[in-house]
Amino acid sequence: MKALILAGGTGSRLRPITFSMAKQLVPVANKPVIEYGIESIAAAGIEDFGIIVGDTAAAVQAAVGDGSRWDIRISYIPQPAPLGLAHAVQTAHPFLGEDDFIMYLGDNLIKSSVSGLVAEFEAHRPAATILLTPVPNPESFGVAEMADGRVTRLEEKPAHPRSNLALVGVYLFDRRIHDSIAKLSPSARGEYEITDAIQGLIDAGLTVRSHIVEGWWKDTGTVEAMLEANRLILEDVEPLIEGDVDAESRIEGRVKIGAGARIERSLIRGPAIIGPGCEVVDSFVGPFTAIDARTHVRSSEIEYSIVLSDCEIDRAPARIAGSLIGRDVRVGRSLGVPRALRLVLGDSSSVNLGD
Ligand code: TTP
Repeated sequence: MKALILAGGTGSRLRPITFSMAKQLVPVANKPVIEYGIESIAAAGIEDFGIIVGDTAAAVQAAVGDGSRWDIRISYIPQPAPLGLAHAVQTAHPFLGEDDFIMYLGDNLIKSSVSGLVAEFEAHRPAATILLTPVPNPESFGVAEMADGRVTRLEEKPAHPRSNLALVGVYLFDRRIHDSIAKLSPSARGEYEITDAIQGLIDAGLTVRSHIVEGWWKDTGTVEAMLEANRLILEDVEPLIEGDVDAESRIEGRVKIGAGARIERSLIRGPAIIGPGCEVVDSFVGPFTAIDARTHVRSSEIEYSIVLSDCEIDRAPARIAGSLIGRDVRVGRSLGVPRALRLVLGDSSSVNLGD
């Protein structure tokens, strides 16, 4: 079995972060989201990976590399335009050949092993296995309609969902999916939909197995989902203090502090992760916060947030919460008059100034 990881797309829902960064590389607990899926699939014994890349190909390739650190081989497959998940599979057909494959959306986060799914697929040999999870907002996902425990219909982002079961971004296919994709036409939103291709398998009378999974999967396509994924991973963070913590600081709960980081006169309340080379001075870092390498936090409070590398947060006038802060960002406070907010924000940024 091969693996196909999708890391193209436009990432419009995660702007402005995705103006300068592939969404699959946004860190969750200080590790690019795509790496969780690669690790999980590599742990199932799969060694031959293809990664679909788009405009951010160079950055994805530089961050992920040739796969040697997981003992796998990675081929990068450029998709000329993000024309849909089924189009990505079609683009990868020369790499996939006639082999079975597991497909994983590179901006999704899977926390547990996929070994059981792979073994089950190989034992039963369906045309496809899909994973489903109950969600409160099915209209934002591919949705499955079930009857007698079988999938009868799939719809992509339906206006009136017939169930709350969303497709999780992990699929297993054999070669018959290529025949189904060859027959597709673009959907109303102009994409070649994998849900339509799977519907084609069902319509042809082929077996599509499904599993309902809970708790171990997160889409990270939006800021809220990204923060939630970060929370999920930090729940299990292994405490490890490699940096320096002074005598006036307190570390509570599960906290990971990277090498060369300095914590002075601060309270760090886990679960939290602070990357190498960070400085946290006279500050509070609260639960479910991930602060990436070399970021400085001074006289500020922050919780339930993701801060990327090389930022400076200095004397923030209120606690920062529920925030996603990109690389090399300055958040500060100027004293004196006039008392004014001075903002330099990129396109599609959002700022909530509280009350
Ligand atoms: P989506 O999140 O559905 O699409 P997107 O990246 O275009 O994001 P947005 O809706 O915010 O603009 O894509 C799921 C994953 O599949 C993601 O990792 C990107 C990848 N992808 C491709 O590789 N090729 C494609 O043609 C599409 C549509 C997505």
